[in-house]
Amino acid sequence: MSAATRASSGRTKLVAGNWKMHGSLASIDALVSALVAGKKGGAKMLLCAPYPYLKTVADRLAGSDILLGSQDVSTRIGSGAFTGEVSGAMLADVGCRYAIVGHSERRTLFGESDAIVAEKFKAAQQAGLVPILCVGETLDEREAGRTEEVVERQMKAVLDAAGVAAFANAVVAYEPVWAIGTGKTATPEQAQAVHAQIRSMIARQDATIASGLVILYGGSVKGGNAAELFAMEDIDGGLVGGASLDAAEFLKIYDAASAR
Ligand code: 13P
Repeated sequence: MSAATRASSGRTKLVAGNWKMHGSLASIDALVSALVAGKKGGAKMLLCAPYPYLKTVADRLAGSDILLGSQDVSTRIGSGAFTGEVSGAMLADVGCRYAIVGHSERRTLFGESDAIVAEKFKAAQQAGLVPILCVGETLDEREAGRTEEVVERQMKAVLDAAGVAAFANAVVAYEPVWAIGTGKTATPEQAQAVHAQIRSMIARQDATIASGLVILYGGSVKGGNAAELFAMEDIDGGLVGGASLDAAEFLKIYDAASAR
């Protein structure tokens, strides 16, 4: 048994909702109220809201143990003339604890390179936020047998820039691009293989950090498939898009994580 395998049961499961560019004050109010009332388990729950709603959600979450996160963060530190940018310090100031970095939609639609993602990862940590680093291959890359190489490259860019110690305070999310919003989930075995690869990459540099690293799966996670995904050795929870906008469905996913 490897160190990574042995320690897997020690990690607390995390279920994160990524609302993307969805919602309104009214819909978010209803969603958060239902989640606060419905969250009963021991897993962690995290909500990554659009920027304009962060403070409202933070206020609604006061007194609950549900965590708040952002969907992105600026590469820029401190303050300055960076129109449109939102710093990690601002996000921490309004109550965020986590920041998603390198989501495939940022990489593909907004041209974020591995180098930019690494800068964002470091900027989040510098502000005291836990970065959720997203990695994952496209359908073409998977079909060409390049999944391992792509994930390795995406991970290495951040490992080289931030160092392995930074992963003691980070989360990784494996999100195969072909599974995002498509209803096509990776099989538990497909996801587990990549999660194990990610953990062993970290373990080559630091076995303790690797064994504590929370690695989420994202891509069409639903109430009906969450349990089988979360049963896998190296899958420590989910990063959920569409299903996180529906309180009952998100709570089903959350309950599946809490049951492990
Ligand atoms: P879906 O759950 O809608 O497939 O989205 C996954 C995702 O991109 C979460 O970040």
